[in-house]
Amino acid sequence: MNVIETRSVTYKSPSCTIALDKIDFSAKAGEIVALLGANGAGKSTLFLHFNGILKPTHGTVDLDKQVMKYDKESLAKTRQTVGIVFQNPDDQLFAPTVEEDVAFGPMNLNLSKEEVKSRINKSLKRVGMEGYHNKAPHHLSGGQKKRVAIAGVLAMEPKIMVLDEPTSGLDPRGASRIMKLLYELNSEGITIIISTHDVDLVPIYADKVHVISDGKIIKKGTPVEVFSDVETIRKANLRLPRIAHLMEILKKKDQISFGDSYPLTIGEARKNIDNYFNSNPN
Ligand SMILES: Nc1ncnc2c1ncn2[C@@H]1O[C@H](COP(=O)(O)OP(=O)(O)OP(=O)(O)O)[C@@H](O)[C@H]1O
Ligand SMILES: [Mg+2]
Repeated sequence: MNVIETRSVTYKSPSCTIALDKIDFSAKAGEIVALLGANGAGKSTLFLHFNGILKPTHGTVDLDKQVMKYDKESLAKTRQTVGIVFQNPDDQLFAPTVEEDVAFGPMNLNLSKEEVKSRINKSLKRVGMEGYHNKAPHHLSGGQKKRVAIAGVLAMEPKIMVLDEPTSGLDPRGASRIMKLLYELNSEGITIIISTHDVDLVPIYADKVHVISDGKIIKKGTPVEVFSDVETIRKANLRLPRIAHLMEILKKKDQISFGDSYPLTIGEARKNIDNYFNSNPN
């Protein structure tokens, strides 16, 4: 079942440019869904619709098949279900200390002091930021800020987590740590939606991909389906994942045939190359 779905969502910014044009986006319970798009494609604008920060000019956002409402009470409920991690952690972190920042959401849920404390400790531990409780968020590195922002959302125990470019600005180790954490959270039942232009991440983690370009969804499907459509990927100012790109070169230059879609992981690529040389020994 779709836990979140946009139906023909159009958003015109105050200056009247169309930032989103009839977007149909969906995520099923338990999926990791990637929204893939180049700079300015509309990723952040769409994400701000997922917890009602922006309201569509036309169309609806459905949560668990219920059309999203924008009164104060409904929005509070929505924001308990859908946790957003903004692209820029400085837009998210505002309290004087890390602990107070992570506490902000749970404090508004009328939980006991002990429960709030336990959620803070659990969330900071989960993102590897235990020991930073009393630090000022603005003294943290970009990657640390990102992890604290994720902890703040985790502390709300949401059903859906929406992360706008969770790995941007992180070093390779930091990026894979975050993705590993998201993968673990997903296997514990949280639906994860991420935006990215990092095409190499998508085949490793995503169950489903939506490609956005100029405010429109121009392709959706599994990573294999989406990256088989090389023309659309390039039209969206993106590129193939490195493994698929290498396979594309081998196919063109050496006439090595891999079927209709390019392998997306090292394991698949190796299997394809082995098969090719086994059946063409000379
Ligand atoms: N409030 C606004 N006023 C005017 N234009 C806006 C507004 N919000 C978004 N836009 C425009 O909508 C388009 C999509 O912007 P958005 O920030 O959603 O892109 P993005 O895919 O997140 O890009 P990036 O990868 O750079 O973060 C851009 O052309 C942007 O200039
Ligand atoms: Mg953005």
